Amino acid sequence: MAFTIAVDGPAASGKGTISKRLAQELGFAHLDTGLIYRAVGKRVLTGQEPLAAAQTLQAEHLEDDSLRTPEVALAASKVAVLSEVRAALTDFQRAFSRRDGGAVLDGRDIGTVICPEAEVKLFVTASAEARAERRFKELAGKGIETTFEEVFADIRARDERDMGRAEAPLKPAPDAVHIDTTDMSIEDAFAAAMARVRARQESA
Ligand code: DC
Repeated sequence: MAFTIAVDGPAASGKGTISKRLAQELGFAHLDTGLIYRAVGKRVLTGQEPLAAAQTLQAEHLEDDSLRTPEVALAASKVAVLSEVRAALTDFQRAFSRRDGGAVLDGRDIGTVICPEAEVKLFVTASAEARAERRFKELAGKGIETTFEEVFADIRARDERDMGRAEAPLKPAPDAVHIDTTDMSIEDAFAAAMARVRARQESA
């Protein structure tokens, strides 16, 4: 049976962690749609045309540790403004969302554009400062050299581009449940997400 959980929100809001844990707990498949845009962004950095990079993207391109760098994140947010790139990536995401056994997708436009019929929609946010602090620690932990100021500026630039673009901008679906993780533990955020899923499963 298909059951889709759409999780949207800005960079480092906690949406990825919540999504992974939901998928684990429920036995659903999980797709981090940001990785798709990162993989296209990385291919563009190496000289490919954005549309060709999106059209020829293969699943194995998503298994690449270098997709997590700030340079690739910025390249991803730049290719993500192109409507033809977004269109080329839509079918794959929709097919994934309706697979048997349930699916969790996280990104920016899952509840609004990719899966407007999702059974559960979550919008996960946190202040830009809290998100930059988390991302800075994560990058430092991986040995990537950067400063808090640099990470904060990157987050702000990406927020602006992701929210301000004409095509599928980052915004909550009207029926999304908001979870603000600024002062919340990951346990509490996960519990809030799970409560929403259980309520929806019981009402089905
Ligand atoms: O979630 P992330 O930080 O890995 O996403 C990288 C970029 O990809 C993000 O800045 C905007 C873009 N993106 C998008 O436009 N739509 C999605 N569903 C997911 C990501």
